Amino acid sequence: MKKTIVAWGAVVLAGMLAGCGTGRSAAEYDKMTAEVIKASFVDRGIAKLDRLEQDEARKACWESEVTGKPLDEKVAKAIEEAALKSVKWPSDGKFLGDWKEGEKIAQSGRGLTWSDDEKTVNGGNCYNCHQIDKKEISYGTLGPSLWNYGKLRGVTDPNSPAAKPIIEYTWAKIWNSRAFNACTKMPSAGHRGILNEQQIKHVMALLLDPKSPVNQ
Ligand code: HEC
Repeated sequence: MKKTIVAWGAVVLAGMLAGCGTGRSAAEYDKMTAEVIKASFVDRGIAKLDRLEQDEARKACWESEVTGKPLDEKVAKAIEEAALKSVKWPSDGKFLGDWKEGEKIAQSGRGLTWSDDEKTVNGGNCYNCHQIDKKEISYGTLGPSLWNYGKLRGVTDPNSPAAKPIIEYTWAKIWNSRAFNACTKMPSAGHRGILNEQQIKHVMALLLDPKSPVNQ
């Protein structure tokens, strides 16, 4: 934790220096900042330093956040299109699993941390940002409430053609959340290998099965 705070301090400091006109280019400051951040972390368990490497989308969103400049519309569109293309659709054409399993996955924040090992089954951590079942009173509010998710969107039969657009949208959003919001704060559960296809089906059922407690 302390190391993290030190790293963020360095980012802020680098940002301030960048504003002072000391003659260094933005690229040089980016490089210095990356070096400071890298030096502030260590490999620990399964959490390795390669997690600091940013792909193009992360880089663009990070830059827009620190400079306060909104992302160029064309860049945002390109990120969203690439994300949508990366979505893997269910191999057997079935989008919904078991909502009871989905509730467990949505509850679990385990997996991928330094205190987990490779065998830990990852959770989706959805409650960390969303209200889902009203019975669960502990949840984060970074994302919108997903209570009554299917019901509010008129899903009475998830297999009907009428439900198809919302079913596909929800799958794609969970698979690669950048598909509809280039700089989203939501993790891409499928694309990043956090959840597998079957787990995503279960979470889908939690949100969209008319029998799920979420839709009562
Ligand atoms: C770190 C926070 C975070 C986590 C964890 C998270 N989400 Fe989200 N989610 C968001 C935010 C923020 C949005 C709003 C749209 C956006 O910015 O992408 C969102 C949007 C959504 C939407 C679209 C809602 C709509 O009305 O269009 C769905 C569906 C969703 N999340 C499902 C999930 C599921 C299922 C999980 C767990 C596998 C999950 N989210 C985990 C932050 C999160």
